[in-house]
Amino acid sequence: MSSTMEELIGLTHKLQKACTKLGEFGTEALPSLWNSLPSIVAIGGQSSGKSSVLESIVGRDFLPRGSGIVTRRPLILQLYNIQQGKDEYAEFLHLPNKRFTDFSLVRKEIQDETDKVTGKSGHISSIPIELSIYSPNVVNLGMIDLPGLTKVAVEGQPETIAQDIEKLVRSYVEKPNCLILAVTPANQDVATSDAIRLAREVDPAGERTFGVLTKLDLMDKGTNALEVLEGKAYRLQRPWVGTVNRSQADINKNVDMLAARKSESIFFATNPDYAHLASRMGAVYLAKLLSRDLENVIKTKLPGIASLIKEAIVEVESELDQLGRPVTVDTGAQLYTVLELCRAFDRTFAEYLEGGRSGGDR
Ligand code: GDP
Ligand code: NA
Ligand code: MG
Repeated sequence: MSSTMEELIGLTHKLQKACTKLGEFGTEALPSLWNSLPSIVAIGGQSSGKSSVLESIVGRDFLPRGSGIVTRRPLILQLYNIQQGKDEYAEFLHLPNKRFTDFSLVRKEIQDETDKVTGKSGHISSIPIELSIYSPNVVNLGMIDLPGLTKVAVEGQPETIAQDIEKLVRSYVEKPNCLILAVTPANQDVATSDAIRLAREVDPAGERTFGVLTKLDLMDKGTNALEVLEGKAYRLQRPWVGTVNRSQADINKNVDMLAARKSESIFFATNPDYAHLASRMGAVYLAKLLSRDLENVIKTKLPGIASLIKEAIVEVESELDQLGRPVTVDTGAQLYTVLELCRAFDRTFAEYLEGGRSGGDR
């Protein structure tokens, strides 16, 4: 991949973050720009293993997991690959100057921030939490963890909880540039998967849906998931990837990520049913696949994104003119950040086109 392309991908991640910060701010171009930025969204039933899969892709323990409705606000996660040897850290958008190097504190912060907005009940909120992770061990990727789809309200939840969650999930997966991770547990019939039901609705041709089959270790003895993994049970344009993550007992015993990844790869390599698929299974493979695909999506959508960015520049400039410079108010400063990123994107995109014409490496 050319470095201009890498730069463009980095800029789309940064723009995504900057737009999140501005939230519902009343300009027209920004929400449509935000909607057009490619992302990866994990969807599925409650406790299907969404948070476990995302954690495993990152290779770090930092997400609240467990039975029941644990994820109650959208978590927008940006992964940035940094140079080998540099220290890994995490940063929240709502705590701009605090670097987290202890990932168990990241988990605690997510829990506290969730409780702060939703109370300790089973309520959900559509206000996202934004978290960036900088590490030599991750691929550049943006991913979103969402509350699980459910059918009935439990004690303390509003009667409308199932519809509320579905509405929230839909608002993410309806975006045409969003890649969907349809997380389905292997110990459940694919035909009854909430993830597949919703993915099929918003992406009927299966062009942007990845099937992720979790809990392969929990299948009944004598059965296997080959029909699903080989795409025979439910066909998608993209592959199905099987995973084995930590059980609740493993979590309680503090089995660490490294050990979990190792036992996952042993599971696939030594299981006679899956050994022939072993190189295309597991979280590490899924991470590579997703990063490659996200790059492809960005590449094919670049011209559209670039023209939205041009519109955004014009709009934000006039917005800033109305606010008057020098900018002191918070929104003004944020708009200014977006403007700078848009300009950088615009310049880099021109370079990218230039490189293409001169037959340079792209
Ligand atoms: P989410 O609600 O979809 O985000 O699911 P979580 O990631 O919180 O996982 C729900 C529960 O399932 C947790 O107790 C996990 O330990 C467990 N779990 C997730 N994936 C697997 C798996 O592959 N195998 C086993 N045995 N348990 C899993
Ligand atoms: Na859960
Ligand atoms: Mg979760």
